[in-house]
Order: sequence, then structure tokens, then C-alpha cells
Amino acid sequence: MRRIGIMTSGGDCPGLNAVIRSAVKTAYEVYGAEVVGIHDGFLGLLPTGVTRTLSIKDVRGVLSQGGTILGTTNEGPFNLGPDSKPLDEARATFESAAKQYRRLKLEALIVVGGDGSMRIARALSDFGVNLVGVPKTIDNDVEATERTFGFDTAVEIACQALDRLRTVAAAHHRIMVCEVMGREAGWIALHAGLASGADAILIPEIPFSWEPLVKMVDERRARESQYSLIVVAEGATIVDSGPVWQADGQLGGIGLVVSNELAQRAGVMTRVTVLGHVQRGGTPTANDRVLASRFGETATHLVARGTYGQMVALHADDLIGLQGNHLLVVSPSHKVGGGLAKP
Ligand code: F6P
Repeated sequence: MRRIGIMTSGGDCPGLNAVIRSAVKTAYEVYGAEVVGIHDGFLGLLPTGVTRTLSIKDVRGVLSQGGTILGTTNEGPFNLGPDSKPLDEARATFESAAKQYRRLKLEALIVVGGDGSMRIARALSDFGVNLVGVPKTIDNDVEATERTFGFDTAVEIACQALDRLRTVAAAHHRIMVCEVMGREAGWIALHAGLASGADAILIPEIPFSWEPLVKMVDERRARESQYSLIVVAEGATIVDSGPVWQADGQLGGIGLVVSNELAQRAGVMTRVTVLGHVQRGGTPTANDRVLASRFGETATHLVARGTYGQMVALHADDLIGLQGNHLLVVSPSHKVGGGLAKP
């Protein structure tokens, strides 16, 4: 391996720079290879695209930085058909990108992106580009990996917001509704909602109706809790009427719908907060930095081995019950600092 490329593609998320840093360090320090940064996602592979060689110095201090030093885009001419093949009018664009890849003398390309970018990468590999994918997105919705980096940071930001909204809700005896991102996936809403003890979590995977929601609010008001905290994923769907779309075709607006509907149906004071892109910006959490760094290193090793057409994925981060000698419990005599003992 002498010279490889790396790009970040699609919507940004915290941890992209950690992947770039890790790939550059692994390439140089383990393999003595050069890394070329492709700017603004696949647009950087067009004849007008911008590229630059990335040295160790270029990635110094970027581990904790949000955004991406290479820039990114979630728009462009690399359109795919429903069969994930380039549309007829996009074929020339793909051919030109493959030509540019050869002109840059790259042996392989690491594409850091979400599901849309992975589909473009796969299509581009049919044009002779050696590719390895790294899954990113705050939405955590890339198939085949248990986690994408960026998700942990987004959940942390949403959870902090919900904790703050709870105190306002309690002080004013209000219903606070918080809309979080995630497209058609409810992961951010689910994790932030669980972590902040939200009273209702509305996610796209389980369409909701108004009656149980109003009942929950009423029951809480009848008890000591005069307020409720509701987290709603932007893609949450109402039974019989589906998700809520904005004028520009993006998902969004369900928070306001829930807020207005509850105000009317339950006769309560409601307020809505839409977190939006705040969830994507700024410093990645330690967990995201570690996962992103592991992804970047593994992707570089895959490239070095010539294992192309693959995406790095996290597997088996699961809770299980173990039996017998494998069961670790806190011993009855456990004290602080006493450690764990086998039964
Ligand atoms: O996929 C990440 C994401 O932030 C989604 O959660 C959200 O629906 C979308 O991107 C917003 O896209 P844009 O940055 O183009 O507004």
C-alpha cells in the first residue's frame, strides 16, 4: 500500500475527524503509505474537485473537533436509481470520478458516510474503484453495524436538553415536547428518552395514536406530577396519517403537531423545542472518538490487505446472561475497591 484516498460524505457528524486522523496515522506509521484527502465527499472526485495530501501534521489536534477537515456534502450529481445503480444521466459522472481516482494514482479509497454514501460507494466500485466503507451518522441507521459514531454524541446532547426541559416542565406544570433528529430511525429519541426518563418516547418504528398519549398526560396530572416530558423523533408516525414533512421535503414538524394536539385534546399548556442540527455539531464524546478511531484504523488495515468492497462494522455489543463459572457477581463481602469475585 503506497497511496490511498479518504473522503467524508453525507451529513456531517461528530467523530469524522477522528476517523481521518486514525486512518492517516495508521497508513503512515504502520504501512509508510501516503493519504490523499478528497474534499466535499464525492464532489472531490470530479475534475473540478479539491484534493490534498494529508500529513501527520494535518491531523494533529483534530481528534476532539466536530465537523470534518475535508468538508462534506449530502447533495450532488451521483444520483442512484431504485436498484442502487447509477441513473443513466449519472453514469458519466461515475465514469469521470473513477478516471479522477486513477489520475490521482490511488490504490483504494476509504469512504466515511451513511447509507446513501455507502450505496454510491458500492456503485462506484463497479467502475473499478477499490473501496472500503466506514459507517457514520448520528441516526445510527446504517445496516449491518450495531453502532455508528456520532450517535453517542447526539444522544448526549439530546439527553442534556431533555434534562433541562424537565426542570422547566416541572416548574411551570407544562407538557414539554422535544423533537430530535434521526430520519426514519428512532434510536436518538429512544436512547435520549430512556436516559432522561421521558414520560413518552415517540419513534417511527411504532406508529402512535393520540388517545394513549392524552391518557398518559391526564393520569400524570391526576397524580402528583403536573408535568410531562415527551421526546418525539422527527420521523415518528401518527397512526392513519403517517409522518410529518416540511415544505422542502425534509422530515420535521411532528414536535409542533404533538404539542398543538395535546394542548387541544388534554387542555394543557404545552411548549415545543426542536433540537435540529445542534445534535450534529461540536465536540464528539469520548465513546464516539474511540469508535471512530477504531473504525479508521480497521478500514486502513482492510485496505492494506486488499480487502475491498467491505464496510467496517461493530458487532456483538450485547447484554447476555452467562451461566456457571462464567458468571461474575459482586461478592457478598464486596466493599468499595474490593473488586469482583466468582461465586
Ligand atoms: O442523517 C443525519 C440527519 O441529521 C438526519 O437526522 C436529518 O433528518 C438530516 O440529516 C438533516 O439533513 P440536512 O443537514 O440536509 O438538513
